[in-house]
Parts: sequence; C-alpha cells; structure tokens
Amino acid sequence: MQPTDQYNRGLSDLRISLTDRCNFRCTYCMPRELFGAEHLFLPKSELLDFDEIERLTRLFAGLGVHKLRLTGGEPLLRRGLPELVDRLARIDGIDDLCLTTNGSLLTHERAEALAASGLSRVTLSLDAIDDAVFRSINDVDYPVADVLGAIDNAQSAGLGPIKVNCVLQRGVNENQILPMIEQFRGTGVVPRFIEYMDVGASNGWRLDDVVPAREIVDTVRTEHDITALAPAAPGATASRWHLTDDSLQFGVIASITQPFCGGCSRARLSAIGELYTCLFGVHGRDLRALLRDGADDATIESTLASIWRTRTDRFSERRTAATQHETAGRRVEMSYIGG
Ligand code: GTP
Ligand code: 5AD
Ligand code: SF4
Ligand code: SF4
Repeated sequence: MQPTDQYNRGLSDLRISLTDRCNFRCTYCMPRELFGAEHLFLPKSELLDFDEIERLTRLFAGLGVHKLRLTGGEPLLRRGLPELVDRLARIDGIDDLCLTTNGSLLTHERAEALAASGLSRVTLSLDAIDDAVFRSINDVDYPVADVLGAIDNAQSAGLGPIKVNCVLQRGVNENQILPMIEQFRGTGVVPRFIEYMDVGASNGWRLDDVVPAREIVDTVRTEHDITALAPAAPGATASRWHLTDDSLQFGVIASITQPFCGGCSRARLSAIGELYTCLFGVHGRDLRALLRDGADDATIESTLASIWRTRTDRFSERRTAATQHETAGRRVEMSYIGG
C-alpha cells in the first residue's frame, strides 16, 4: 500500500544526500566563517554505504518513490558514484535518476561514465554569468567558464535536458537574470531562478535579500515575449515559462512568495541515513540505526510508511515570523540535507 500523509500527499520523490562536504563555499550555503578548516565534517564510517542506500531506496520504491535525486554537499566528491548510480538505476519502479552538482568535477569522462551507469539527467548550479560575481559567490574563485564546460560535458553525454539552478540574492546577482537568459537561448539548457530560502541556520537569511518570483518574471519581460507553461508534474517546485520565439524555457522556484507545499511528495535522506519529511526539518528519523541493528525489510518498510502517514509538514506555506522563530538556529543545513 502506498502511504499518503495527513494532507493526502503521496510519496513519489526521494532526495539522497551523499556527503555533507563540498569544494565550494557559496556564501549563502557554506559560508567560510562557519565551514572553515576547523569545521567537523562527517567521518566516512557515519555515512550510509552503497548497500544501505540501495536497500533503503528499494524499500522507498515499494512505497511509491519513482524519482531519485542525488545531492550533497557535492555528490561527485563521493568515491565510486557511477557504481551507486548503476545499482539505483536498476531498482524496479525508478524512472528518473537525477544528480545536482556544482559541475567542478564533471569531466567529460565522468559524465560519460554516469550516463552509462543509468543516470537520467543532471542539474548544475550556476549563480551568475559574470565571472567576478560568480567567483565571489562560490568563494573559491571558481570560474564560470569551467561550469559552462561541465554543462557541455553533461549535454554531450546525453544527460539532458540540463537544468541550471541560479539562486538570486538582492544586491548580489539579481542583475544576472537577463545574462542567464542570453547565455542559454538556443542551447536546450533550462535555467531556473530560485528565490533565496531561509534553510539552515548559518546563512543569515533576511526577507529583504529575496528577489520575488514576480520581479524575476517582470525582469525577463522587459526584454522578451514570454508565455507560461503548465507545471511539469503535480507538486513540482518550478513554475515554467518559455520565450515565445521558442528559443528557451525557464523556471522560477518561489518557495518564499508562492510556496508549493500543497503537492509536496518529497522525502529526504541525509548522508547518515536520517529521514526528513521537509527541507526545513529540525530532526530527522534515524533509519541507519534500524539498518545497523539488523531490522528486516518488513519492519523498515512499515516504519517508513508510518513516518509518511503521520507527516504534516508545510513549512513554506506556514512561514511567518513566528514559525521561523520556533525553529531558528536549529534547522538542518542545506549542505547537510541536500537541496
Ligand atoms: P526537477 O525535477 O529537475 O525539476 O528538480 P527539482 O524541481 O526537484 O529541483 P532541484 O532539485 O534542482 O532544486 C531546485 C531548488 O528547489 C533548490 O533550491 C531546492 O532546494 C528547492 N527545492 C527542491 N525541493 C524543494 C521542496 O520540497 N521545498 C522547498 N521549499 N524547496 C525545494
Ligand atoms: N536557497 C535556495 N536555494 C539554495 N540552494 C542552496 N542553498 C539555497 C538557499 N538558501 C540551491 C543550490 C543548488 C540547489 C540544490 O539548492 O544552489 O542548486
Ligand atoms: Fe556547495 Fe552547492 Fe552549497 Fe555551493 S550551494 S556550497 S556548490 S552544496
Ligand atoms: Fe515540502 Fe517542506 Fe518544501 Fe513545503 S517546505 S514544499 S513541505 S519540503
């Protein structure tokens, strides 16, 4: 039986964080002051191994999950990734297997190996086309040209349609909306503009830093004729648009001003095997303990189903100063739980 939660939402997506480490220090995600040399990352023994990830994924698939996203931190830092992809792609019921990456390790060979293992598609993060702006956001002086190279590698390996995530922050990269559109017109790449979210506890988020979806769309309209498209799936994160000359499709992810909890069918697994039923969770449920204590499949499956059935999360829809304050300083970090 496929479980539904307290708001009648099914479980169709599983987002798996493979590591809490990243080789970038994006100022809105892993600010250097908090993720410096003395920061303690998870030791390898704490991480779920490939057998554990595969087993949990198979059980989730039995409960209705058909879409997987591998994230991090930076998932390409995880050794042996193509082997994991190969194992997950073979699970019955999985029809979409995606990877979110910053692209820095996505060489031509790596992209080919992932495609051969059964990866369906890749989403890359790129917050600016202006090189100086991008280098200052990633804070490791990483150039735009190399991310564009990674996009080419993914595209030539057949890992498309490629999406590019661009998190917009007021006064930082809001002037990059039109350059993004220009960069990707005619390439088949789909840029997605993301409202900066109040995930985690370390990015010092303020509502004033958010560039609202409405403004994003109006900015594109100053230069282009655009039309709205239907959402890709019920409960999808992005509203979709296209340039009426058909040269580009783009998306807007408006978790702050137009929350999409109503159809949220996404579960998240941290790198150490905690299950979160919301991106803005404070506590995860420890599935690793079940695995390592020798629980059988039926026990784990019924635990997963019962966690889902009792779920009431809709953080973004309920976001007010009061709900933000309730969990202030305690919400799990994006680099830990995955985007
Ligand atoms: P596609 O299936 O390729 O469209 O991917 P996706 O819509 O799942 O998006 P992706 O993983 O690329 O994430 C894009 C942005 O949406 C990131 O900033 C995510 O953190 C955010 N996001 C993804 N899922 C959720 C969610 O359930 N809630 C909220 N609030 N934000 C989300
Ligand atoms: N708000 C919105 N998006 C974010 N991401 C990371 N932190 C935030 C945030 N605070 C994005 C990354 C990546 C995706 C998985 O999530 O840029 O593209
Ligand atoms: Fe790394 Fe992505 Fe976070 Fe940037 S946003 S620090 S690339 S996990
Ligand atoms: Fe789902 Fe939580 Fe995001 Fe709402 S805020 S869409 S419940 S993950």
